[in-house]
Amino acid sequence: MSSLSTNTPSTTTTSADPDTGAATEEEEGNIFSKYYSQLSHQQNMLTDHVRTKTYLQAFFKNTVDFQGANCLDVGTGSGILAFFCVQAGAKEVWGVEMSRITIAAKKLVSSNGLSSKIHIVKGKMEEVTLPKKVDVIVSEPLGFLLVHERMLESYITGRDRYLKPGGKMFPSNSTIYTAPFTDEPLYAETCQKSDFWCNNDFMGVDLTALHETSMEEAFGQPVVGYFHPDILLSDDRGTHFVDFHTVTHEALKSFEIDFQHTITKTAVCHGIACWFDCDFSGSQETVVLKTGPEAPGTHWYQCRLMFRSPLAVNKNQILNGRLTFRANDSFSYDVKVEAGIDCNPRIETENMVFLQDQHYHYLYAEESAVDAQGMGHVRGNEGQV
Ligand SMILES: C[S@@+](CC[C@H](N)C(=O)[O-])C[C@H]1O[C@@H](n2cnc3c(N)ncnc32)[C@H](O)[C@@H]1O
Repeated sequence: MSSLSTNTPSTTTTSADPDTGAATEEEEGNIFSKYYSQLSHQQNMLTDHVRTKTYLQAFFKNTVDFQGANCLDVGTGSGILAFFCVQAGAKEVWGVEMSRITIAAKKLVSSNGLSSKIHIVKGKMEEVTLPKKVDVIVSEPLGFLLVHERMLESYITGRDRYLKPGGKMFPSNSTIYTAPFTDEPLYAETCQKSDFWCNNDFMGVDLTALHETSMEEAFGQPVVGYFHPDILLSDDRGTHFVDFHTVTHEALKSFEIDFQHTITKTAVCHGIACWFDCDFSGSQETVVLKTGPEAPGTHWYQCRLMFRSPLAVNKNQILNGRLTFRANDSFSYDVKVEAGIDCNPRIETENMVFLQDQHYHYLYAEESAVDAQGMGHVRGNEGQV
């Protein structure tokens, strides 16, 4: 899916039949729409029990926010969060969904006898017209490393268009975390991917002119998978806080995460590990969804951004640097990784990573693997977009 080059959801138009959910040719060309129209992919998300149960808990621990409320579910998929809204006491819910999974969602709503309360609306959040503003917006717009898929932009479009002043958002905010890591086998494996291009006599052709390009490609892939927390080289974390109530489209299109990590063990540093947590801050309780290496596994795993040139680091040295995120036309982000030791602003290693071009790497931390297996299927195993 990584070679996708198309418009962002906010700029693509569709004219799907609102009743039958029939897709136009243009919509069929939208890889996210097609992907999410399949029950198997909805199932993968539903059976990420950490994810789905955290949402349920967040709503149930804050029923005061849902009692008698009108709600909007941005990207309702199977309709699961709309059902949770009703279970938590909502009066009515509009579940907006761009893909043809609306046909399945409508079936579920009707077979569960909730057609008077849950209204499935086929279309993009950026384009649909709803009858009224709402008290609460819910959504699961989270990609790996939080921002992949760029669905947060549709979430805040829902906010700007339909949330009443003072309304609640579930989730309410998120924090991306960073930490340096060491992983020699991963680094060696990444280099080896390009060995083929070292051949100076491939059926009579010298391929070596492309070796460097192949290395750039290999190191340009984010490594998505579990890792053991022991590989982290600092106890402190770089952070980037996103408040969904106030974040602007501009701020999501480009942002930076500066980090300054005190190294806790002498090692070779191979890159920066990233993950995120999400808060559901209701009137009664804040519930947290965690996706870090010490938390139970989720289908978001964790993400590692490799250094093209590793850095030897000594205990107590400071590793500083910056991750610069720029939204791209593949529903994802180009990330510039820069780092150096005790060096602000001198940079000793830098690399470009393209989040849409994931390398799935399922080596795991024991706890995460156990939890992940308990979930049954997870989306990444099926080839996440
Ligand atoms: C991560 S899934 C979550 C599905 C469901 N809410 C759940 O929690 O299981 C996101 C859903 O949002 C839909 N979606 C993405 N962008 C959208 C947009 N701009 N407007 C409407 N739906 C969108 C996708 O088709 C997909 O079904």
